[in-house]
Parts: sequence; C-alpha cells; structure tokens
Amino acid sequence: MEEKSSTICVTGGAGYLGASLVKKLLQKGHTVRATLRNLDDHSKVGLLKSFPKANTNLRLFKADIYNPDEFDPTIQGCDFVFHVATPLQHSTQSSQYKNTTEAAVAALESIMRSCIRSGTVKRLIYTGTVVAASPLKEEEDGSGFKDSIDESCWTPLNLPIQYYGSQFFKDYVYSKTMSEKEVLKYTHRENNKVEVVSLCCGLVGGDTILSYIPASLSCLMSQPLNGPISYQNLESLQGILGKVPVIHINDVCEAHVFCMEQSSLQGRFFCASDFLTTKEIADYFCRHHPEIPIAEEFVGKHGSAVRWGSTKLNDLGFKYSYDAKLILEDSVQCLRRMGAFK
Ligand SMILES: NC(=O)c1ccc[n+]([C@@H]2O[C@H](COP(=O)([O-])OP(=O)(O)OC[C@H]3O[C@@H](n4cnc5c(N)ncnc54)[C@H](OP(=O)(O)O)[C@@H]3O)[C@@H](O)[C@H]2O)c1
Repeated sequence: MEEKSSTICVTGGAGYLGASLVKKLLQKGHTVRATLRNLDDHSKVGLLKSFPKANTNLRLFKADIYNPDEFDPTIQGCDFVFHVATPLQHSTQSSQYKNTTEAAVAALESIMRSCIRSGTVKRLIYTGTVVAASPLKEEEDGSGFKDSIDESCWTPLNLPIQYYGSQFFKDYVYSKTMSEKEVLKYTHRENNKVEVVSLCCGLVGGDTILSYIPASLSCLMSQPLNGPISYQNLESLQGILGKVPVIHINDVCEAHVFCMEQSSLQGRFFCASDFLTTKEIADYFCRHHPEIPIAEEFVGKHGSAVRWGSTKLNDLGFKYSYDAKLILEDSVQCLRRMGAFK
C-alpha cells in the first residue's frame, strides 16, 4: 500500500465527485492539482479554497476537454492522475469535435500521452460508470438481459433510442463507453509504465458538499422530488442495466483513494454497494418517509432478474460503508438540509 504523501491531479475538481475527492485527498495529506474550466468562477474556486490545507496543498489549473493539451502542465510531475471530468453538453463552438464522445476520447488520448511523457505518473484512475457495462445482450431484440452484470459486460452501442429515454442520456452512455474502452487499451500496451484503472461507479448519492443538488442526487431522489426528467433518467438506467446500482459519495471517494493506494493495480472495477429496482427505491421512501408523498407516476418499476456479479473490488479488500438504506436515508437528510422538501 502507498502511504506517503503524493502529488495528485484531479480533473474536474470542482464537480460533485471531484470536489469531494479533492477534499479527501487534502485531508490525507496529499498535494492536489485540480482542474476546472473557469478559474473566475468564484463559487467553485471559493469552495475548493475553503477546504482544510487548501492554502498550502492545493493548486488550481484551467483545463478544458475541448482543448485537451491544456491538461499537460497539471499532469507533469504528478504521481497519480484521477480523470474525473467528463463533457456532459457538446460545445457547439467546437469545430474540431462533432460530439462529446469525440472530445472525451481525444482528451483521454492527450491525458494518457501526458502521463506517459511525465515519467512520474504511476497510475491513471479513470472515473467510469456502470452505464458503459449494460448486461443487455448484443443481439438485442427487446427482451435479452444476461443473468448477471459484471466487469465483462459492455453496453451494446446499437440499442434503439427508446432504451435511453433521451438524446442526452444516449450521448452520455456513448461518450463514457467509448472513453472507457480507449483508456483500457493502455493496459495492454507494451512498455507502458503507467498503470490504468477504470472505476465504474453506480449512481452516486447520499450527501454533497456543493451548494446545489448535483444531477445524480436529483436522479436518485427523483421519486420523492417528483422530478419527471430526472425520473426518466432513473428509469433509463434501470432500462439498460436491469436495476439501479447505487453508491454513497463517501464510498466513491474511498474507493478512488483505495485504487490509488494499492502498490500495483490495473483494469476495470465496478464500484457500487447495492443494486435495486426503482420500485424498491420508492418503497423505501413510502415505508420510512410517509411524510414525503410519491406521486402515482413515480412509484417505480420492478426491473429485471439480473444479478450483481461483481466482486473484484471486494476481493481486493475494499469494504463499502453504506448500503442502500444508508444511501437513501442520507440522501433524504441531505435534501432536507438543502430545503428541497417542504
Ligand atoms: N454522479 C454519478 O452518479 C456518477 C456515476 C458514475 C460515474 N460518474 C462520473 O463521475 C464524473 C464526475 O461526475 P459528477 O457526477 O461529479 O458530475 P458533475 O458534478 O457534473 O461534474 C462534471 C465535471 O466535469 C467537468 N467538465 C464538464 N465539461 C468539461 C469540459 N469540457 N472540460 C473539462 N471539464 C469538464 C466539470 O468541470 P467544471 O467545474 O469546469 O464545470 C465538472 O467538474 C464523470 O466522469 C461521470 O461520468 C458519475
């Protein structure tokens, strides 16, 4: 296990996962270089600079995926790189890339080149998502899930649009699937001294240190929040994965750090502590929070019989601290604190 203080790059350091990860790394005594697109964004910069030890151990860098070489100065001299940032909306000003997938893949290629050239980066840890690992069969005819979902699954990219519910979700799934395939190619490259880990996270909730409700927490809580668009995304997740894998923000950060602290690690790892249907999520709120009514159209669906087949992270010794009940309960408390429930 690596225990010394390291210099670590976190791309997308001001986002939901990124900010919590930066805070955790600082807490552990590391030096952090975080990227964001706009260093004049006072609310994002202010949050990062408010973290304990930020004044001495945190430096902020500007970098945009649409200008991939901008990540290079941040990466040179680092021991580890967490690539957390992802383009969620296509920048229409870009003539170089047609869509978010092209931009994300080009950024990964550039970031990997920087890691290799640095001569110091030991490992790149990519924040992937389970949406890139659908257990739907390749020869999809509308009814075919495999028996279980694990790290051998890859989302077939020929699914009809109705599986995604929206063009936004389809673009996200494409971009994350293609990016993860790109990054994992480097695990097979000869003479590549940079190890590559992809951590495919489930839907993240539980809490936030941001001043607004992040999109994934809105999605997880779309039923009690009565949010039609987020709820459509939640059902689409279940539509392509069979059920919804969930993970607490604190466990996500711990898992990222765990992957960094291993003396050697490569490959693809799922990161979710529970796998439940949208009906089970709604049932939890009905049973434990009858004061938060759920409208008829958000009561959820039964999902499929797909089993969670991944044990790779647990086999390495990682232990989740939050099961579904704790994730949902913390999410309720967090949204209550943020004034989302009357
Ligand atoms: N939350 C989840 O449930 C979940 C689950 C699985 C995987 N993930 C993955 O976790 C990562 C972070 O997601 P999140 O939930 O924390 O989302 P988020 O809060 O929306 O953060 C997205 C991050 O990406 C950055 N970003 C967006 N477009 C960019 C661009 N063109 N160039 C550079 N940076 C850009 C943003 O940076 P700015 O601050 O500059 O805007 C922000 O830091 C993503 O890779 C996502 O796929 C999330």
